[in-house]
Amino acid sequence: MSVTVRVPAKVNVQLAVGAARPDGFHDLANVFLAVGLYDEVTVTPSSDGLRVTCEGPDAAQVPLDRTNLAARAAEALAARYGRTPGVHVHIVKDIPVAGGMAGGSADGAGALLACDALWGTNAPRGELLEICAELGSDVPFSLVGGAALGTGRGERLTALEAGGTFHWVFAMAGRGLSTPAVFREFDRLAEGRDIPEPVASRDLLDALAKGEAEALAATVRNDLQPAALSLFPELADTLAAGRAAGALTGLVSGSGPTTAFLTRDAGSAERVAEALRASGTCRSVRVASGPVAGATVL
Ligand code: C5P
Repeated sequence: MSVTVRVPAKVNVQLAVGAARPDGFHDLANVFLAVGLYDEVTVTPSSDGLRVTCEGPDAAQVPLDRTNLAARAAEALAARYGRTPGVHVHIVKDIPVAGGMAGGSADGAGALLACDALWGTNAPRGELLEICAELGSDVPFSLVGGAALGTGRGERLTALEAGGTFHWVFAMAGRGLSTPAVFREFDRLAEGRDIPEPVASRDLLDALAKGEAEALAATVRNDLQPAALSLFPELADTLAAGRAAGALTGLVSGSGPTTAFLTRDAGSAERVAEALRASGTCRSVRVASGPVAGATVL
């Protein structure tokens, strides 16, 4: 017997970052949108303990030890319910690794939901969300999907209305960026400046609720973008290429280095994707739309 869960990637349409807190994290106003690029996580009972395997073009970069959020999710659920996590977790990876699209978080949320179904623990939703928040700031959103505002360190979610489907193009970079390194660069660039409290933009939430791509494009904002560009200056060329190709706007996704381009419609997304592929400014290009549902048992 096995259980498979499908989990989407995310893009941040607004990532407002506050000053560093005493615990090292940053308060955020993080507007998440789940988009249709997916990892699939399959769990199967195993007599030789917890084991993680992964397949996909980026599989070689995925850690298979206990640092993998999927392994930690299985352990956390097992610990709560007094079980041993005797399970083989297999990840079919389509979300870019270390790309700022919550690929690792998706695997954590997926393994948690899959183990809950496999073991019949039937944990209440609130408890699953609590475990997700312990695993990482973006993991609760991978579970719920759709569109949501994350506050605190991003883990406290309020569902948001999205009045339509938004069409995106994602350009994957030739190497990854470490999220803690990007936050450290944010702190370095912010030194000596007053950092305002992070708040969600009213205009942006309105554009999202109305499903208006042009209005959303005019309001997207990522406070981590200067830090990501400082560590990875070539991303500016990718952003310029996507905008020149007709995207409404382009921005770094989360802590990067994936860049995300919002387009008018599905046809425009295909044209921008083609131009980005030809530009030679990125490793690969994908088209995806959102919002889509969060982690789902198949
Ligand atoms: O929560 P998560 O494990 O995904 O965070 C990874 C790292 O990103 C943290 O160790 C921290 O350096 C940084 N981070 C932060 N503020 C947040 C979320 C993440 O500084 N709200």
